[in-house]
Amino acid sequence: MHKNEYKIGLELLKNESEQFVSNIDNIAPNIKVTDEFTVSDISKGVGIEKAFSLFKHKYGNKISATTGPNYYGFIIGGATPAALLGDWLTSLYDQCSPLTDVTNVLENEVIEQSISMFGLSSDFNGTLVSGATVSNMVNLAIARQWVGEKQNYDIAKKGLINSNLNIKIYSATPHSSIFKSLSIIGIGRESVEFVGTKKGRESIDVNSLRQKLSENKGVPCIVIGNAGTVNTGDFDDFLALEKLKEEFGFWLHIDAAFGGFANCSNKHKYLLEGWNSADSITIDAHKWLNVPYDSAFQFTKHTKLQSKVFQNGDAPYLDNSINSYINLTPENSRRWRALPIWFSFQAYGIDGISEMINNNCKMAEKTAQWIDNSEYFTLLSEIKLNIVCFKVRDIMGFSTETFLNKVNGTQKVFMTPTNYKGEYAIRIAFSNWSNNNKNVDELTSIFNDIASSL
Ligand SMILES: Cc1ncc(COP(=O)(O)O)c(C=O)c1O
Repeated sequence: MHKNEYKIGLELLKNESEQFVSNIDNIAPNIKVTDEFTVSDISKGVGIEKAFSLFKHKYGNKISATTGPNYYGFIIGGATPAALLGDWLTSLYDQCSPLTDVTNVLENEVIEQSISMFGLSSDFNGTLVSGATVSNMVNLAIARQWVGEKQNYDIAKKGLINSNLNIKIYSATPHSSIFKSLSIIGIGRESVEFVGTKKGRESIDVNSLRQKLSENKGVPCIVIGNAGTVNTGDFDDFLALEKLKEEFGFWLHIDAAFGGFANCSNKHKYLLEGWNSADSITIDAHKWLNVPYDSAFQFTKHTKLQSKVFQNGDAPYLDNSINSYINLTPENSRRWRALPIWFSFQAYGIDGISEMINNNCKMAEKTAQWIDNSEYFTLLSEIKLNIVCFKVRDIMGFSTETFLNKVNGTQKVFMTPTNYKGEYAIRIAFSNWSNNNKNVDELTSIFNDIASSL
């Protein structure tokens, strides 16, 4: 190891970055790796340059362009130039957040800025965690503590094992990470009771929820709402949930992994009306804010409860104050993930971020319109935000699955299937800052060519 290697590394990074970024439209968005897996001998190091050559040789042509505009699967976003700069600097400075003051101060600034960007009320506090799954888990762990305290039981101290607590959880269309979170925090995957959905929608039928809550009057319940379901981008009616909350006093958690960004669009922010009545909210940063992995916001109004759950043992060398991030999140040592967000906020502002959100929503509408006018396809739901969910018409004589396999097989674009109300469907998610009309034209032209050839 030698300090001179920094220079070599920087040069390699510069060349690689320039090549990757300028070529991104031509790199396949989802490359399958089928080669035999080989393990290099590491008994003797080869030096930084040879390590890079080896990496390029073994893995260089297997890197997918998930950060480019042709990746429409899941909802993953890309990485804006400013966020990427912040991420490079995060690695350069290698601050162990939250053990240095600057990391805390800057994270506090980012949390305040994000609370304002998302239009959240000032009684929310927040932290940064690695993704929406962990944010959901943290928020549900706080909700769990609330349920315990309502029944005079301190779960953080005594655990769930002998608690005999009554824990009721209601949701209509929760993301798979909710079940994972409930498994991790000891409540269990099977504890979710599904409530009915509105006709043809994925959002809560408030009457169905009211019925369940009425049957459990006096029991502290957790309601998990959605701002953006993964299939169709559907939203619960938060004004109705707010009213119901006033009547029944449940904990409202909202999974807004990508839907929280609706607040950045004048046309779509109505979807979030009433969401300030939530007790906790999850929003990903590595999705629609387009910062590199891994990064998400975790918001709650119940910081005291949060610190009860995430407080360290009483270590004299740690900051024991309740507002220290070390006592609010699962990790102790953690990456300075506030820095890429900070760069993104300063470089683009709420204006620039809103433009990206609006642009993606317009792309979704344009694509949906094309699909709706096409003889081959049927839209499965109206466009709420940035997701288009559709299938091949039943009369076409080829299946939606066959069509999707052909589309992804072109290696030019990539999208993921889903099961929507029992039917195999395709979802196109727009969440990349660099998407433009040309990409939509290319996408629809691929659809047209493939559908007409089947
Ligand atoms: C609504 C919703 N919640 C949670 C998640 C999980 O997010 P992450 O992969 O960042 O943990 C996703 C990811 O797609 C999502 O769409």
